[in-house]
This record gives sequence, C-alpha cells and structure tokens, in this order.
Amino acid sequence: MINERRPDDMVRITTPELAQSFIDEQIALIKEQVGDKKVLLALSGGVDSSVVAALLIKAIGKQLVCVHVNHGLLRKGEPEQVIEVFRNQMDANLIYVDATDRFLDKLAGVDDPETKRKIIGGEFIEVFAEEARKLDGIEFLAQGTIWPDILESEEGIKAHHNAGGLPEDMNFELVEPVRILFKDEVRVVGDKLGLPHGMVYRQPFPGPGLGVRCPGAITRDRLEAVRESDAILREEFDKNGLVDKVWQYFTVVPDFKSTGIKDGKRAFEWCCIVRAVCTTDVMTATVAELPHELMVHITDRITHEVPGINRVLYDFTPKPTGTVEFE
Ligand code: XMP
Repeated sequence: MINERRPDDMVRITTPELAQSFIDEQIALIKEQVGDKKVLLALSGGVDSSVVAALLIKAIGKQLVCVHVNHGLLRKGEPEQVIEVFRNQMDANLIYVDATDRFLDKLAGVDDPETKRKIIGGEFIEVFAEEARKLDGIEFLAQGTIWPDILESEEGIKAHHNAGGLPEDMNFELVEPVRILFKDEVRVVGDKLGLPHGMVYRQPFPGPGLGVRCPGAITRDRLEAVRESDAILREEFDKNGLVDKVWQYFTVVPDFKSTGIKDGKRAFEWCCIVRAVCTTDVMTATVAELPHELMVHITDRITHEVPGINRVLYDFTPKPTGTVEFE
C-alpha cells in the first residue's frame, strides 16, 4: 500500500508465526498492486533490500528484476553471496553489474571524504539508471524503506531515501513492502523467508562501503588490504562468538607506511587499524573489550596473510570523540 503508516497498535513481529502472517498479507498486497507488471529493485545484499527481494520473489517471481551493482567497495564474498542466494537458490531474475573499474577510476586521486561519498552515490544512481533504461515495461520500483527511515525523514534527521535521485523521467510507482517494520522485525521476516542467517543478522555496513575505510585517495592495492584484513577479522569474530556481542567491527588501512621486518628484511608497509564498537543507537559508542590472546592471533594472521601490512593497531577511541567510521 502506498504511503502506508504503521498502526499505533501494531503488534511487534517477534515470532515466526507473526512473520508468516505478515508475509502472507504482503504477498497478497504486492500481487494486488503490481498485477502482471514488472518491478525493478536495487539489490545491495543488505538486510532490507534482501528481505524485499525475497518477499517479491515469493509474490511475483520473475516479474521482479533485481539489479546488483558491485561498486568494487563491497566486503569479501558479498557479490558472490548475492548471486548464490538470489540467482542460484531462489531462481531470481538477477542482473549483476561489475562496475568496479568505473567507480575506482572516478575515485582515483580523490581524498576528501564527502567528495568520495558524493561520487560513489552519484555513480551508483547512474549505473542503476543505465541498467533500468535497457529494460522494457518496468512500471514499479521496489525499495527497502523501513519505518525508522520514514520517521527520520519526517523529523528532518536524514533525507529519504535509497532511490531518491533517479532521473526525473524515470517515474516509477514505489513498492515498499517493509516500510512499516522496524529493523528487528525485518530480520524476523527475513529469517522466516529462509534467507541465510549471516545475511539477515549482519552488522551495519555503510553505503560507500570499504571506500570510507581506505582513508584518503583510494588505491586498488590498499583497498584490497582493507578487504582481506576485514575478512580475517570477521572470520575470527565469528569463530570466537563475538558477532552478537559487538555492534560493528572492521579494519581501516590509512595511507601511511612504517618500518618493520618481514622474512629478515626491512619491510616498509601500511598498518591496519582494528575498530570494534558497542552501542545501542550509534549516537555514542564504547570500545569493545577484546581478549588479548585473540588480538595477538588476529595481528599474526593479518600481518602474515595480507600483503602490504606489517603492523596492527587497536583503536581505543569511543564516540565521541571519534566517530565509528574514520571518514
Ligand atoms: P559514524 O561514523 O557517523 O557512523 O559514527 C555511524 C553509523 O553510520 C554508518 N555510516 C554510514 N552509513 N552511509 C551509510 O549508509 C554513510 O555514508 C555512512 N557513514 C557512516 C556507520 O557504519 C555506523 O554504523
């Protein structure tokens, strides 16, 4: 339903049964809204867009066209997971666009954080619009808008929303099946729809992706060091039961080098900063207390497995004075 509002007395979706009745209700509403027309969705692989995709696949199957734009700033294994889950397991109509070179070429030499964000956001819309123009007969655009997005845009806290910014001639009607849900409810629904646990319960990941964790001008080699070190950190947090205890954790590789020793020779390489924070509302955050032995192990792995890294540091800064991200 367009512009639907969350009823004041709506029961919080906390159980598989409640999720199932929400799913049944939405499938009927989507079918009624869309009929036999086609719907387009920018599928990032994040929780909200993944749940919307799974709902629409159940409701209208191949009438949904998902576009996954890989901007080259995703975490290790993410584009592969989107293809595996949606194309291979759910048999979705999925267009995969590897736009890595386009994004990285545009970002070359750009060191201002906000300019980097604008380039990434602008280029994303351009790539998505180009793909949309290649398709015939699309009348609807699905979005993973959730209830806090609506509230925050009404309160003027942040501009709403994902596809805001598409060219004006692309006048699609919106399909927003999770717009009255809170994040925790979206997760319960995602679980019930059979999405992988790691996809439904994953930590927040910024739109500009690893681009803001490669401070200053992004280079491919340093970006690769961020991606590989992040993958090691995530693997170790997973193995050691920290995933549910820490709100957000990642690595940052700044653009400076220091002297070290590798294989008996001088190694002039980058350092990798580990960031791990606990918070409830992200307005403030505390630093996670991590076991010393685990940190030693993670340091050992990153310095030996990631080319170009010879040191690992831990960021002890709460928010404020720091922010969660470095840029
Ligand atoms: P900060 O760094 O502002 O981060 O303390 C708070 C939360 O917001 C995320 N974040 C972003 N998310 N686009 C996003 O979609 C962005 O440009 C962006 N910058 C920060 C950050 O990961 C953290 O969860």
